[in-house]
Amino acid sequence: MATKTVSETFTTRTELVLPNDTNTLGNLMGGRLMHWMDIITAICAQKASNRIVVTASVDFVEFKSAIKLGEIVVLEGKVTRAFTSSMEVRVDVWAENLQTGDKRKSNSAYFTFVAVDQNGNPIPVNQITPETDEDKELYNSAQSRRELRLLLAGRMKAEDSDSWKKLLS
Ligand SMILES: CC(C)(COP(=O)(O)OP(=O)(O)OC[C@H]1O[C@@H](n2cnc3c(N)ncnc32)[C@H](O)[C@@H]1OP(=O)(O)O)[C@@H](O)C(=O)NCCC(=O)NCCS
Repeated sequence: MATKTVSETFTTRTELVLPNDTNTLGNLMGGRLMHWMDIITAICAQKASNRIVVTASVDFVEFKSAIKLGEIVVLEGKVTRAFTSSMEVRVDVWAENLQTGDKRKSNSAYFTFVAVDQNGNPIPVNQITPETDEDKELYNSAQSRRELRLLLAGRMKAEDSDSWKKLLS
């Protein structure tokens, strides 16, 4: 199995918020932003695995501040770590007003993708090598996030989770 660096999975996307993207208050709809986030993170996971991938889960997403009609949305994604058939992808989102120059962090989230074969069965993926200090920190913390999400999804028992045991001790 080959390895890929985090930077090889890095993907960016810029969108202009148009009327059809907004609610009646003129703010970007959360569902539209989630759609953009899902697509960019899927591309990251495909770059990492060179496989068909499906979204398995999305971790807690918070919409910190409204993004207005006419503003620019910048999304940046990268794979933080690969496990057996699954990959964790982080996406960061910024909103930018090109008239005022105001640029602010809107949100970030972790998506988990699973590489599948033509029949939809999970298949092993390339491993990910972190290079920068930030990538190494995200790589190391990915194990705890994985255990937590699998616990919440009822796919892991608390007694099998080292992170959970550490939290409670
Ligand atoms: C995701 C999916 C392929 C997992 O299939 P499964 O038969 O349950 O697979 P397994 O139990 O063998 O798990 C396979 C991997 O998925 C991961 N996984 C499964 N459910 C998960 C969840 N809720 N959150 C995070 N990871 C999950 C497992 O941890 C495992 O990862 P690993 O191989 O790296 O250890 C399957 O549930 C599926 O096809 N779901 C629908 C996906 C979909 O339609 N998405 C939206 C459109 S793309």
